[in-house]
Amino acid sequence: MKFKTIEWKGDRVRMLDQRKLPQEVRYLDCRNASSVAHAIRTMAIRGAPAIGVAAAMGIALAARRIRSNQPERFQKSLERVCDEMSRTRPTAVNLFWAVNRMRKMLNLVHADGVEKTRRRLIEEALRIFKEDVEVNKKIGSNGKRLIHSGDGILTHCNAGALATGGFGTALGVIYAARDEGKQFRVFVDETRPMLQGCRLTAWELVQEKIPATLITDNMAGVLMRKGLVHLVVVGADRIARNGDTANKIGTYGLAVLSKSHGIPFYVAAPTSTLDLSLTSGEEIPIEERNISEVTHFRGYPIAPKGVEAFNPAFDVTPHSLIHGIITEKGIIRKPFERNLKRIKASPGLERTQ
Ligand code: MRU
Repeated sequence: MKFKTIEWKGDRVRMLDQRKLPQEVRYLDCRNASSVAHAIRTMAIRGAPAIGVAAAMGIALAARRIRSNQPERFQKSLERVCDEMSRTRPTAVNLFWAVNRMRKMLNLVHADGVEKTRRRLIEEALRIFKEDVEVNKKIGSNGKRLIHSGDGILTHCNAGALATGGFGTALGVIYAARDEGKQFRVFVDETRPMLQGCRLTAWELVQEKIPATLITDNMAGVLMRKGLVHLVVVGADRIARNGDTANKIGTYGLAVLSKSHGIPFYVAAPTSTLDLSLTSGEEIPIEERNISEVTHFRGYPIAPKGVEAFNPAFDVTPHSLIHGIITEKGIIRKPFERNLKRIKASPGLERTQ
């Protein structure tokens, strides 16, 4: 990729400020955990895997800065930082997954002392980052066979390099197919209200010179009816045990449209997005954001003052509408409950089907 979504700089975490794209390519340096938490909350960095990587790096920054060499104090301070990270955004389970990995390292402080634990925490954050890029490449390589030359592929929100440590999940599949020489067109849903499709996915695809057509969210049905869409591929923020999938608001509508037009609908996500503790999508916490994101456009009011608005950031697509889930361990098909459990437990990279 021609840009870096996030980087560990030793004394700071550098991230591409996604609030400024596509007008400005500006990097943001976070020098402490609170500024990382703020960046996640305000969506300078966003996308489930990228949020997890950022939180881990934020905790690593705090580990560097905490002076105490007393295991108890060190642990208490870092536990507070883990809690702060966990409160930033509720839906993407990758955040909690990454924080838990850091907590496991932290718990070794009583046995191994502060100095070693500090090093371990930094190493773990860098491992989470590195693994994420590798996992994305595997997702791409497992999913690329779903794309054929001449296809039209529709995607929603941004599940690209910007949403991950690098490469992307849904866009990772697209990049891998392009790398094989396949020629196709990507239709990009603008993704109201935060416009991740318009601002971020379109930007990534332009950088990568992949033919892309931007549409407003309400145009997908027309494209499908015209026969221009052959595959829908989206990312995920949390996948319950039965395969129900939370992703950016608007995903559910696309899945319904896909079913009604007989178009395969796939989710691309790392296994760190699976939350097998939840029976179904009903239990996934859905973030509701400030209504000003709906009533205003970049600070400018576009709705009458005083109107009520609804702003859930995610919706849940029922598993019945999903053809398959593309993971780093292969494409998971129905019955999801049995196959997701099996894949989560498997250490290797084998395919289920
Ligand atoms: O609110 P956002 O921009 O963080 O939402 C992002 C999405 O919904 C993505 O599709 C999802 O996190 C998958 S990213 C690989």
